[in-house]
Amino acid sequence: MSPSQRSIISGLLLMSVSLCCSKLSCKEGHSGPTHESMQAVFDREAFRPAVNLSNPTITNISFTLYAVLGVNEKTQILTTFLWLRLYWQHEFLVWDPDECDGVIKISLPVKKLWSPDIIVYEFVDDDVSQACPYVYVNHTGHIRWDRMLRLVSACNLKIFSFPFDMQNCTFTFGSYMHTIMDVRVSPALTFQEMSRNSKRYLEASGEWELVDILGETSILKFGVDEWDIITFWVVIKRRPVLYVVNLLIPSSFLMLIDILSFYLPPHSVDRASFKMTLILGYTVFLLIMNDLLPSTANGTPIIAFWRRSSLRMSFTTTP
Ligand SMILES: *[C@@H]1O[C@H](CO)[C@@H](O)[C@H](O)[C@H]1NC(C)=O
Ligand SMILES: *[C@@H]1O[C@H](CO)[C@@H](O)[C@H](O)[C@H]1NC(C)=O
Repeated sequence: MSPSQRSIISGLLLMSVSLCCSKLSCKEGHSGPTHESMQAVFDREAFRPAVNLSNPTITNISFTLYAVLGVNEKTQILTTFLWLRLYWQHEFLVWDPDECDGVIKISLPVKKLWSPDIIVYEFVDDDVSQACPYVYVNHTGHIRWDRMLRLVSACNLKIFSFPFDMQNCTFTFGSYMHTIMDVRVSPALTFQEMSRNSKRYLEASGEWELVDILGETSILKFGVDEWDIITFWVVIKRRPVLYVVNLLIPSSFLMLIDILSFYLPPHSVDRASFKMTLILGYTVFLLIMNDLLPSTANGTPIIAFWRRSSLRMSFTTTP
């Protein structure tokens, strides 16, 4: 046998082996793929489910923003709640529905299967989301994993125009370790669709209103390696009513009285005591309202300046 013949035969053998094992078997009188054939797939949980390891596993991601749980200006952290949907291709979980009693979809525990290591780069806390232990597997090997994610993400919050501020936070999704040779990541829905779904389902957003979700796919290069990443920008806007009612209106009212007090005769004892009372009122108001105002190391809201300068004004004009 010549070496070329041998290589052809071994190639054929290899092909038949990969053909035999890339499909689940089914039995007469048994609904869905047999447990033995699935167990064989579970045993290979540690290995990326690709027939040819030179081909990357395609992973698609989409999410719906379900709640904005909190914005912490001091620690620069945004807490949101997402419904995350991951799709990927499992090339060994393939069967023929005609042979398998017409079953086209089964659910399997995700722990028993290989899953892509998708992370959010901005995540800065422990994942305390409820576990979602099952995935749906289509007969074509298409896996869908729906899970909830309580995302605690670092975000550069700008509070200068508080309480009329808008925040733009970034969520970057990607595989932490697998380069584009092994895992490709792309969005499962268009960014417009994700934005629309989020606006429809956003339930508990408290003082925040979702303006838009924008996105972009790109490739992160680091040395010779490249990673697929999807960057989302979640733009949220503060609903200012609370602050206008509790902060701006009383503050303006005090200022107005302060200005009107100039009409009192300058040397009357009444004016001095009135101004003193006003300053006292201001101070108490400041103390009460202090924790309502956000503060960060890299900025102060403009209304804090305004408030402070109004206090200063009333000091300097007190005789
Ligand atoms: C695996 O895929 C690569 C690239 O698509 C191809 O060059 C190679 O021949 C394939 N290997 C096998 C064993 O099919
Ligand atoms: C996943 O992404 C790839 C590449 O963008 C696309 O061809 C494929 O149709 C997507 N699959 C799903 C289920 O969205």
